[in-house]
Amino acid sequence: MGDCEKMKFGQMELEIPVLQGGMGVGVSLSGLAGAVSLAGGLGVISAAQIGFRNPNFAKSPIDTNLSVLKEEILKAKKISQGKPVGVNIMVVTRRYEDYVKAAVEAGADVIVSGAGLPMDLPRLTVGYPVLLAPIVSGKRALQVLLAYWKKHYNRKPDLVIVEGPKAGGHLGFSREELETVDGAEFDRRVSEILEITKKEAIPVFVGGGVYERKDLDHYRKLGADGVQIATRFVTTFECDAHENYKMAYIEAKEEDVVIVKSPVGMPGRAIRNAFLERVEKGERFLEDGCKQCITTCNPKETPYCITKALINAVNGKVEEGLLFCGSNVYRANRMESVSQIMEEFRI
Ligand SMILES: Cc1cc2nc3c(=O)[nH]c(=O)nc-3n(C[C@H](O)[C@H](O)[C@H](O)COP(=O)(O)O)c2cc1C
Repeated sequence: MGDCEKMKFGQMELEIPVLQGGMGVGVSLSGLAGAVSLAGGLGVISAAQIGFRNPNFAKSPIDTNLSVLKEEILKAKKISQGKPVGVNIMVVTRRYEDYVKAAVEAGADVIVSGAGLPMDLPRLTVGYPVLLAPIVSGKRALQVLLAYWKKHYNRKPDLVIVEGPKAGGHLGFSREELETVDGAEFDRRVSEILEITKKEAIPVFVGGGVYERKDLDHYRKLGADGVQIATRFVTTFECDAHENYKMAYIEAKEEDVVIVKSPVGMPGRAIRNAFLERVEKGERFLEDGCKQCITTCNPKETPYCITKALINAVNGKVEEGLLFCGSNVYRANRMESVSQIMEEFRI
């Protein structure tokens, strides 16, 4: 690989210090994840409702998801030519443990887990050569996790992802924090986390609003090892979402980005569209049967079924769906290839 600097995490080596953020539902499947891994980073499949295109999904969503997850991991590894591929599984996923087991059985190299603290991840992956990467948004969460893993499993994370308030999808910040945590405050929080991780020799990747090379340089200067990027990868030819989804990103302006209350119980960032305007006016969008996605949703109270809204979006019905995005979405102005983006981040 010429004279580029390779990074080693346990048994895994990355040529380019970029993790692609997992994007559900169906935005990061084997196509995107495989391409990112092939290009030298770590591609990450999102396990969230991954079986949504399978005819059995409506009848038995979780079992269908588990078998499609395995298929997608194998497909991604084929595309990446055997290079490591990760899987993102949110802690609030119903039957989280079964998703983790399915992922490691199919040969996932890294499990990335946020939207909650993955307290029992070491127990669920015993005996598998898999790296564990929790996502945190502050020092306190990391300290709790490190202490618990040490006491119960005598192990530490193989890498830690710190996600800031500019990220897409569900956010680990309250609405107030989203307004008060600016770039300088987030940098301060990253530095606090780095003080802890340096002592433990745990590599750190920072995500949320990372869009170009200077963002990587900025976080590396602070002491991080790499970055996690999601939004920038949506407008690639390889991204698994429908073309209309990508076009919605290209057309979005800064003022179109809104913070929504999601049925998951965390704030989320999305592009304002007809669907969100109807939800705002009090319309409800429910499904015939609950698709068993997350533990925190109460189907009786939720204003909309988030599974259905995300499936509509990824299938191209963008005015009837929820278009999650990071705060930098308005910067997308053309389609790119994954390898073009990745080369920008080679160090
Ligand atoms: C469309 C979309 C879907 C996402 N879905 C998930 C998800 O299912 N699980 C998760 O942990 N993070 C999810 N995220 C967050 C990303 O993995 C990532 O950490 C974050 O968006 C990084 O910020 P960036 O988009 O500014 O690069 C999603 C982000 C986007 C844009």
